Amino acid sequence: MIWESKCASCHGVFGESNEIFTPIAGGTTTDDIKTGKVASLADRKQPQRTTLMKVPTVSTLWDYIYRAMLWNAPRSLTPDDTYALVAFILSLGEIIPDDFVLSDANIADVQRKMPNRNGMTRNHGFWSVNGKPDVNGSSCMTNCVKFVQIGSTLPDFARNAHGNIAEQNRLYGPYRGSDSTKPPIAKLPGVIGRGSSSRC
Ligand code: HEC
Repeated sequence: MIWESKCASCHGVFGESNEIFTPIAGGTTTDDIKTGKVASLADRKQPQRTTLMKVPTVSTLWDYIYRAMLWNAPRSLTPDDTYALVAFILSLGEIIPDDFVLSDANIADVQRKMPNRNGMTRNHGFWSVNGKPDVNGSSCMTNCVKFVQIGSTLPDFARNAHGNIAEQNRLYGPYRGSDSTKPPIAKLPGVIGRGSSSRC
């Protein structure tokens, strides 16, 4: 019930999401639950990487949902709501049965069934100080623009890359896509309140 009322409008009734959000469930198998490594991450047959394909630890899922969701009202879920939502997500991936009651007492047992529990690697720039960073950028040194406005409007070339976003969103819930067949609004709304930055 919590999922349907608070999460499904953005993430789909079965965690399938829509064109904009990546799916939460899908792409994992009973074999992955045994090996702890999601095979479809390597064979690239899945169109998108789902949360359950990637996430190695249940605690990460719990913590992320508790602190960051729901998107339009973060920190509004109780710990019990969060356990229930994590259990629901894991049941969508058939990692636990759909009547399973997840709690602090059994979360460690459930961890041993996470499909990608052995898939985490620290062998990349994000972890290793001497490694290559995941992203690279360069600073403008001459003829630089005086003022850069950062906003959430897509650049022209990307604006209609996936067709009309407004038609791909569910008609209920908090999230609305803008009509991407039309040009973007000429001016971004001003930032409300001092110190609040990237609120989209
Ligand atoms: C208004 C739309 C919206 C609602 C409602 C919403 N989410 Fe999200 N959710 C998002 C967005 C946007 C992201 C991606 C955020 C990012 O990457 O910074 C996200 C990301 C997530 C992720 C991580 C996905 C990944 O693989 O990185 C999980 C898990 C999640 N949401 C669970 C929930 C749960 C549980 C609820 C209901 C309590 C919920 N969301 C409600 C928009 C929403």
